[in-house]
Amino acid sequence: MISRVLRREFLDFFEKKGHKVVPSSSLLPLDTSVLLTTAGMQQFTPYLSNTKNVLEDFGTRHLTSIQKCFRTLDIEEVGDDTHHTFFEMLGNWSIGLDQDKGYFKQGAIEIALDFLGNILGLEKNKFWFTIFKGEAGIPKDKESLEIWQEQGISQERIIEFGIKDNFWGPTADTGPCGPCSEIHYDRGPQYGCGNQDCGPNCERCKRFVELWNLVFMEYNKKKDGCFSKLPQSNVDTGIGFERLLAVLENKPSAYETDLFLPVIQKIEVLSAKNYNSQKPNFRIISDHIRGAVFLAAEGIFPSNTNQGYILRRILRRAMRIGKLINLPRNFLIPLSQETIKIYQEFYPEHKTKQADILSIIQKEETKFEKTLEQGLKEFEKLACKGEIDGSMAFHLYNTYGFPLEMTEEMAVEKKLKVDKKSFEQAFIKHQEISRIGATKKFGGTGAEQIKDEEQKIAVIKLHTATHLLYYALREALKDNVRQMGCDINSERLRFDFSHSVKLTQDEIKKVEQIVNQRIKQDLEVEKQEMECGEAIKSGALAFFREKYPERVFVYTIRDKKNKDWVSKEICAGPHVKRTSELGCFKIIKEQSSSAGIRRIKAILI
Ligand code: SER
Repeated sequence: MISRVLRREFLDFFEKKGHKVVPSSSLLPLDTSVLLTTAGMQQFTPYLSNTKNVLEDFGTRHLTSIQKCFRTLDIEEVGDDTHHTFFEMLGNWSIGLDQDKGYFKQGAIEIALDFLGNILGLEKNKFWFTIFKGEAGIPKDKESLEIWQEQGISQERIIEFGIKDNFWGPTADTGPCGPCSEIHYDRGPQYGCGNQDCGPNCERCKRFVELWNLVFMEYNKKKDGCFSKLPQSNVDTGIGFERLLAVLENKPSAYETDLFLPVIQKIEVLSAKNYNSQKPNFRIISDHIRGAVFLAAEGIFPSNTNQGYILRRILRRAMRIGKLINLPRNFLIPLSQETIKIYQEFYPEHKTKQADILSIIQKEETKFEKTLEQGLKEFEKLACKGEIDGSMAFHLYNTYGFPLEMTEEMAVEKKLKVDKKSFEQAFIKHQEISRIGATKKFGGTGAEQIKDEEQKIAVIKLHTATHLLYYALREALKDNVRQMGCDINSERLRFDFSHSVKLTQDEIKKVEQIVNQRIKQDLEVEKQEMECGEAIKSGALAFFREKYPERVFVYTIRDKKNKDWVSKEICAGPHVKRTSELGCFKIIKEQSSSAGIRRIKAILI
């Protein structure tokens, strides 16, 4: 069964069963406490916890979707049969049961068996099942056990697992979650480790593939890590699309299905190498290019922060691995084009945005191409000495654009380890130095600090003005504007942000007005030290989030009259004490920085 047919079968099946087909939400989640969408249920979180009414917004409690997801947690595992960065999740939901109006465990189990057995024709005798054994104050799921048995499943095919394997969620630190019951598929002894106790969740082999996760969402995880009951019960299910397709096609992995084959074949042609001789490398490259195409299609640009950093990391990793299999220069583009061809039918925006997607990828390839070779040589030199300490890893990052994770991966290949802490220290030190506009000079002599006190104060003021500008842009443009870069010297500030169109004169005026109004209000700028995670949860904007140390400073510009804050950002500082110190804010230039990114230059007079 090819991917197009599986998509259609799945959605048709659930539509016929009274489910509303909901389009995939963006890979950029509304809940900004997580960088990317990692599960199908994420867009439904407010409905699952009953803070929004599902009937009002969807007209039904029964929903289904094919959701774009992206996970970086297992990125080192990509290359094996089952892990991907980008993947799609098929899911169905029954939200907020109300006696007999929505289905719960019985309904979810019956529907799942019906789809896998009767629609897809998978053999029931190859299925294994799991239930929650009871842990952390949450009781064993005896009900699911009985339901599976009523469906004719024998006791020895139903295995119990605890929190680690059979409890799902939440996607953030708090939120809806619950015990799971999973359906695994036995791919046969040829995929197995041969051990007596091999079965679902075997840690040694991939014989048993988890096909479907049925989550019975009845709990809410609280800040203190304890669970309380949700005001309602829900069903949240998820099937890894790629895994299911591989099973249906009887292929070892999705890389051998129509989701990847054209890309794999193209790599064979470009590298003059055989897929079977270099499987993991071929797989990493094709996975990362697919991930990059999807991220670029969301308007994400490679950068050193947040989602942009993830995009940069996977593209640069693909380029390094590409070198290992002799892929020629500029290979990212033909492979991205193949990927777009595969996905454009289901995601037509890939076709309409093709030029933008390719241009984003091309620019990054051109940029890294310049330093990759030299950086690899430099790495070899350092590795020869038998150590890659944090400051060396930072040197590779800062001079040659090597993402830390890439240096770590290369170090592991040489049986070396990188000290992350000292990398972070080098990073923060560098950040602080550039922030106060000091002359940057690395490589022995350290930084020369600016001596003139007046200039220092001008920089500090412009720094606070930058926070107000970021706030004003989000207010004025009503767009989820994201900071993409920033540079301050004693004369002016320069701020890059995501926004696809030129600002109108009215918008520029409005931004200036908002900033100047907040300056006039003489608001207090408060500094607090806290855990990075806590800061992000409190709503603080984080520009360098992936790189922050555990404890950070948060600068809050408070509007005490309205008992609220205007701006809250994780930032090394320093800042002025009150906004009235800034004087008058003026935008002197608004221009394009690169595709989808605008640049503002502003001064204080
Ligand atoms: N939320 C569950 C998962 O992601 C089921 O959809 O596995």
